[in-house]
Amino acid sequence: MTGNELRKKFLQFFASKDHLILPSAPLIPENDPTLLLIGAGMAPFKPFFTGKMKPPHLRISTSQKCVRTGDIENVGRTARHHTFFEMLGNFSFGDYFKKEAIGWAWEFITQELTLPVDKLWVTIHTKDDEAYDIWKNDIGVSPERIIRLEDNFWEIGPGPCGPCSEIYVDLGEDRGCGNPDCGVGCNCDRFLEIWNLVFTQYDRDEAGNYTPLAKKNIDTGAGLERIASVLQNKKSNFETDLLFPLIEQTAKLAGVTYGQSAKTDVSLKVIADHARSVTVMIVDGILPSNEGRGYVERRVLRRAVRHGRLLGINKPFMADLVDVVAAIFSEPYPYIAEKKAYIKRIILQEEERFGETLAQGMELLNTHIQNMKQNQVKVLDGEIVFRLYDTFGFPWELTQEILTEHDLSLDKTTFDQAMDKQRERARAARQEQAEKVIIPDLSQLVTQELGYDEKADTAEIVLILKDGQVVESAVQDEDVAVIMNVTSFYAEGGGQVGDIGRITAPAGQITVVNTKKLPDGTIYHIGHVSAGTVKTGEPVKLLIDAARHRDTARNHTATHLLHAALKQVLGSHVNQAGSLVTQERLRFDFSHFAQVTEEELAQVESIVNQVILAGIPVGIIETTQETAKEMGAMALFGEKYGERVRVVIAGDFSKELCGGSHVSHTGEIGLFKIIGEAGIGSGLRRIEAVTGQGTVNYVKQLDDVMAKAARLLKIRPDALANRLEAVLAHVKDLEKELTLANAKLARNQVQELLNTVSDVNGIQVVTGQVSAADMDDLRSIADMAKDRLDSGVVVFGAVSNEKVNFVAMATKKAVERGIHAGAIVKAAAQMAGGGGGGRPDMAQAGGRQPEKIAAALDKAKEIIKNQINK
Ligand code: ALA
Repeated sequence: MTGNELRKKFLQFFASKDHLILPSAPLIPENDPTLLLIGAGMAPFKPFFTGKMKPPHLRISTSQKCVRTGDIENVGRTARHHTFFEMLGNFSFGDYFKKEAIGWAWEFITQELTLPVDKLWVTIHTKDDEAYDIWKNDIGVSPERIIRLEDNFWEIGPGPCGPCSEIYVDLGEDRGCGNPDCGVGCNCDRFLEIWNLVFTQYDRDEAGNYTPLAKKNIDTGAGLERIASVLQNKKSNFETDLLFPLIEQTAKLAGVTYGQSAKTDVSLKVIADHARSVTVMIVDGILPSNEGRGYVERRVLRRAVRHGRLLGINKPFMADLVDVVAAIFSEPYPYIAEKKAYIKRIILQEEERFGETLAQGMELLNTHIQNMKQNQVKVLDGEIVFRLYDTFGFPWELTQEILTEHDLSLDKTTFDQAMDKQRERARAARQEQAEKVIIPDLSQLVTQELGYDEKADTAEIVLILKDGQVVESAVQDEDVAVIMNVTSFYAEGGGQVGDIGRITAPAGQITVVNTKKLPDGTIYHIGHVSAGTVKTGEPVKLLIDAARHRDTARNHTATHLLHAALKQVLGSHVNQAGSLVTQERLRFDFSHFAQVTEEELAQVESIVNQVILAGIPVGIIETTQETAKEMGAMALFGEKYGERVRVVIAGDFSKELCGGSHVSHTGEIGLFKIIGEAGIGSGLRRIEAVTGQGTVNYVKQLDDVMAKAARLLKIRPDALANRLEAVLAHVKDLEKELTLANAKLARNQVQELLNTVSDVNGIQVVTGQVSAADMDDLRSIADMAKDRLDSGVVVFGAVSNEKVNFVAMATKKAVERGIHAGAIVKAAAQMAGGGGGGRPDMAQAGGRQPEKIAAALDKAKEIIKNQINK
């Protein structure tokens, strides 16, 4: 049975048990700051388990894309660990419980998959007699095959959790460690956990308190790759059709054969696993970076690249594996194939970048290795190992491997401490964010009946929240969040800011400062009661800030036009990577791998303005996802749309899936003006632009600046460029004259000083203060003077920038007589609060006390006398 067939069979089985089948959610959790990445089938459904939100159906089943990196060190070393895997799951939200969950799991594996019963084992939580009875009496599992384990309790960060029961397959003695204690739960590859049934009955908070849930739930998770390995009779997940094509391709590239050396196999497996992770992370909208999800992606990719090096692949290779990943996932995730070119570019760029840091990190590490050898230190400080890891992306095992070659080792304890500190910082940052999000308890609302209607001007308050609690009413000055049966306020989303405005009740008024949306689409208004009292159930009048809304709509429609124009001018690889639409401006981030030239930018701007001037009607239609696709509408990465989608159409020019606010014809946008373009990271660029009133303001501002400049020059604004050119040419002439004048001044200075030459025992000594702009200047003046002496020494000081510089120079003959310029300036500079030195024939130094310059030069003379008389 192929992986695809298994996935389908599972979902069909649970569909036949009245489950709603949903597609996998994207890897980026929505509205859940406690999670970095989706790592379990249940993660997207947390609010359904806690009862905070109503699920679309009480029974759901999915095959969910998951990324877990807690076990990354094991990936490649065991048969079953992955960073990316697919979790098959069935979920009950307060509907069926243990009996059905256990019964169906058993039915599926023994009847649908026909796994032999005599190879199956189960575990339960130590105290779970209910599960014990079901397994023993209803299913008929013999008691010695039901193992009670203390740690059979499943949780992932804060949220729904509970005791669990796992199903294991005994793969046979020859797969085991041979240890007499080997059994279910042993870390070796003999007993394989294929399914975890969680009886979700608690809600854990950040502080670690467990509150029983009002309704009991089921959350199960079965590893697709693990079950596939059993069905396909393979020794590891890596040999199933879900991963093996990647191993084959990599082995070919490296010129090695799988199964010949344990070390090579580990690298092949690591690369196969990581290629899947990185590809899916990128297609779900994660870009490599130094923090959060982007960092996870970067780390995984770098680990793969290092293993490529271990296999002897010394050029970028990961991008080529995207074709293989796309082929493996063509059925469940066809969008990978559609975005292949984009994914490859991101990977290639990151591989090349790591290629560079790899060399830099090696250089740093080699310096440390040399120092260690010189000082006979055997163990490298963990802080340095951490810095190599953190700054240069060096996995600590790589550092360790290199150290081993030199008979050295590293301090893993201090490295771990540094890592822990970093994790703690990351956790604290997440916690801080988590505290800002309040998902109110909405279980009493039928949220499906609430709506958004741009034209609504009256509504009814259905819920008021104060401090996250539902209240009946609120009075003046209280901060509230309000939900109404219908609203004309646009909720923040799709890059567009939320509306602001007023809600007027019979005896009070709310000032709305933002409008937001819960994950299920429920719109809530954030603000404060600005007058009187407002009550639940009251009829209200809605008044949004219409001017702000219109300006925002102009910018939103212009964003679509910009997107389409960019594709026309730069190519179809341009994809939206982020956008912000406010009243004042629009900001559009997109993928593009080169600079955008001025001509391209001008062309984009001109195309958008032509579409605006043509006054094309902007239409909005609602249709199915499929029809929208057929129409050629642009959609975003990893965006999760429902069945019905909204397509915004500007003639033949732009068609885009979007839930935002738009103008009704392009002419309303007014003039479109790009005000900035820049690179913002690997393969990403950002354009900022203004429209409508924003452009009027922008032009006015430019006009003011030009007018001011013209006034200063006493000319008309249109003569500015010509005049500036003339002024710059004039400045250049002046600079030239200045240089000549300085040279003349220097010659005069030298002549004057030479007139003061004194003879000390046959050596000509010239000292004095000169004016010189900097050290270079001072040196050339001293040079000039020295050239005029036969057996002599010059010491000059000059003040510049509140500091004093000294230069001493001696002719060859003077040096032969014992003059040492280095010793002279050193003593002089010390007098002036500084230091320095140099060769016998030439030296320079600086001091911080210019007022001591005369004393310093006297000191120099004294030293010279001593040197000659010695
Ligand atoms: N949520 C459970 C797990 O991930 C099923 O193991």
